[in-house]
Amino acid sequence: MRSSASTLLLAAAAPVFVAAVCPDPVPQISSLSWSGSGCPSTSASSVKNYGPMEFGEVKTFTFNQLDSDNTENCEIHLQAAQAPSGWQVAVRDVAYSGDVMLKPNSQLDYFTQVYWSEKADDTGIAKGTITNADTDVYNRAVTIRSTVPEKWSKCISGSGPGILNVNFRPVINGDAGRFSFKNATWHLDWRKC
Ligand SMILES: *[C@@H]1O[C@H](CO)[C@@H](O)[C@H](O)[C@H]1NC(C)=O
Repeated sequence: MRSSASTLLLAAAAPVFVAAVCPDPVPQISSLSWSGSGCPSTSASSVKNYGPMEFGEVKTFTFNQLDSDNTENCEIHLQAAQAPSGWQVAVRDVAYSGDVMLKPNSQLDYFTQVYWSEKADDTGIAKGTITNADTDVYNRAVTIRSTVPEKWSKCISGSGPGILNVNFRPVINGDAGRFSFKNATWHLDWRKC
C-alpha cells in the first residue's frame, strides 16, 4: 500500500540507538498540559502516557483535532518528579503519524520547537517538508520524524529537570492540501552532569 516515497521517508526515519543510559529509578512524568489551536487546553486532546521518561522511551500523545487545510499548532508542556540529581535530559527526536493530502504544486512544511521554560530563548528547531511535485494528488498515511538540536535541561539537583515544552506546527503551502496528525512520539537522551 505504501508508495516508494513514503517508504523512503520511513527508511530515513529509522532511529539508531546507542547504549541506553538513563537514571535509575527513571523519573516519572508528573504533569502534562497542552495548548495551541490544534489542541486547546480545554480539549480532550492528547495524553496517552504518563509513564517514565526513559532513554529511547516512546512517549505517545494522541491528538484529536490537529487537523487543518491551513495551519495549526500543538504545544505540549511536561514535567517530571523525583528525578535523581546529577543528570540532565534532552529531546533527541520527535515523530508524528497521521494523514497528509496534497494537491499538485503543494507542500506540507512542519516545524518542531523544543525549549525548557527556564531557558525559553534557547530553542531547538527542526523543520521538514513533504512536497507534491507530481501531477496526481498525494494522499497518504505518513510518519514524519525530525531530529531536534538537543537542548539539555539544567543539571538536576534536588528537584525535577524543569518544564519541557515541545511545539509542533504543520503548515500547508502552495495550492491546497490537508493534514490530520494523530499522535506524537518522542525519544529522549539522558546524560550525567
Ligand atoms: C499513531 O497514529 C497512527 C496513524 O493513525 C497509527 O497507525 C498508530 O498506531 C498510532 N500509534 C499509537 C502508538 O497509537
